[in-house]
Amino acid sequence: MKLFIDSGNIKDIERLADIGIIDGVTTNPTLLSKEPGDYRDNLKKICSIVKGPVSGEVTATDFAGMIQQGRDIAKIDQYMVVKVPLTRDGIKACKTLAGEGIKVNVTLCFSPAQALLAAKAGASFVSPFVGRLDDVGTDGMQLIREIVDIFRNYDFPTEILVASCRHPIHVIDAARLGADIATCPPGVIDALFNHPLTNIGLEKFLKDWPSALSH
Ligand code: E4P
Repeated sequence: MKLFIDSGNIKDIERLADIGIIDGVTTNPTLLSKEPGDYRDNLKKICSIVKGPVSGEVTATDFAGMIQQGRDIAKIDQYMVVKVPLTRDGIKACKTLAGEGIKVNVTLCFSPAQALLAAKAGASFVSPFVGRLDDVGTDGMQLIREIVDIFRNYDFPTEILVASCRHPIHVIDAARLGADIATCPPGVIDALFNHPLTNIGLEKFLKDWPSALSH
């Protein structure tokens, strides 16, 4: 399974990409609004760090505006993916942009029917938001299960990009279901590394090692 960083923060992206296990980045208008500087420069910089799919989202809500913004975003860098919302205009824009060879990530997906529409429109990625579904008392991971079933039936090439991951269990559940990608805030990626028994075990090995050298 691929692991994307859900952030626009250059320092966090550099820090995690340096480890060598990051495959791409997702941003959204909220995440980019937190970062200083021009958002286009930030996206370009992110592409140079990760060298994998980097999603930048349109803010227009009408078809013509999405097409214009989508083409501009795609021109920022060869790694850019255009994110469009899962609306009627968004699906229509996805079909048009994908037809021009632009990679599209259809975002704000909250139902299997919506995911099916994104796949039919030629999306490279569809982003179901598990955490936000959990927030309103539904089982976000059930949505992933249903999308995986549907896409498998028809061999859709659209990748399932599990978004709104809030903790490591979301990542593990997504991997168990065979989702293609999980995108996580830096803190969730950091948490994937942690286990107290690793720390305790390492401490003991290091404490014991000097006696091995003194034999
Ligand atoms: C995905 O592309 C979105 O940027 C993101 O995962 C949203 O997560 P949130 O629900 O934690 O804001």
